[in-house]
Amino acid sequence: MNHAIFEKNIPLMGIGIILVTIIGALVEIVPLFYIDSTIEKVEGVRPYTPLELKGRDIYIREGCYNCHSQMIRPFRDEVERYGHYSLAAESMYDHPFQWGSKRTGPDLARVGGKYSNLWHQNHMRGPRTVVPESVMPNYPWLEKNLLAYDDIGTRLAVMKKLGVPYSDAAIAAAKADLETQANPAADGRGLHERYGAKVTQEDFDGQPDRITELDALVAYLQMLGRQIDFSTYRAQAR
Ligand code: HEC
Repeated sequence: MNHAIFEKNIPLMGIGIILVTIIGALVEIVPLFYIDSTIEKVEGVRPYTPLELKGRDIYIREGCYNCHSQMIRPFRDEVERYGHYSLAAESMYDHPFQWGSKRTGPDLARVGGKYSNLWHQNHMRGPRTVVPESVMPNYPWLEKNLLAYDDIGTRLAVMKKLGVPYSDAAIAAAKADLETQANPAADGRGLHERYGAKVTQEDFDGQPDRITELDALVAYLQMLGRQIDFSTYRAQAR
């Protein structure tokens, strides 16, 4: 048959391979230049509030990703254990993403709302006080360290440079919004206007008189996986 021509002529075979590879590559790559985004937009997904963003920075600083992933794979065992599989949109504002590659502890993509703030306070201070068999380290300094957030406006501006749609108003109000979210008694209208009605104002660390690193970390943990309402979510038809 005709393919014998290629099989008996090595240079021709080489050219054939290159041609077929080029066609394959074009088919894969060219469409990417014509679509705005490869990420399906999903209702409810919003940029992090200043307090959550600080908490996320602490999560990264403490290396929580060494033991925890934040990506539920679309397999039955994962979905039954953790909930709806992760959508690309859920990490679209993550720079860097926290998908992770190792699970010494459970996946945290939907841990928000699973436990109370008090549980998290105890768990971060000493995991074995709430889960006797836990191998997670103690993080007792988080509730003692005051949160350093003088730079929070700049922090949001940097995220904006990376493509996160923070408005200039949100950047200007970042410090006030951070303090408001950690104080249940504060006027939350501006915070809710910028980040949505679902954002809650709580004393996340159980110490109403000050804002600690634990406030930020718990605020972050409590929002994970709660932006999308999966009772109404339908995947877009392709
Ligand atoms: C050495 C590995 C390790 C590190 C590092 C680690 N964890 Fe854990 N984590 C675990 C293990 C194991 C569990 C399960 C037992 C338990 O609940 O303590 C767990 C459980 C959790 C849970 C409860 C999850 C659930 O669904 O029950 C949260 C929340 C959590 N970790 C947050 C963190 C945060 C935040 C950090 C970083 C400050 C962190 N972990 C660092 C190992 C780790």
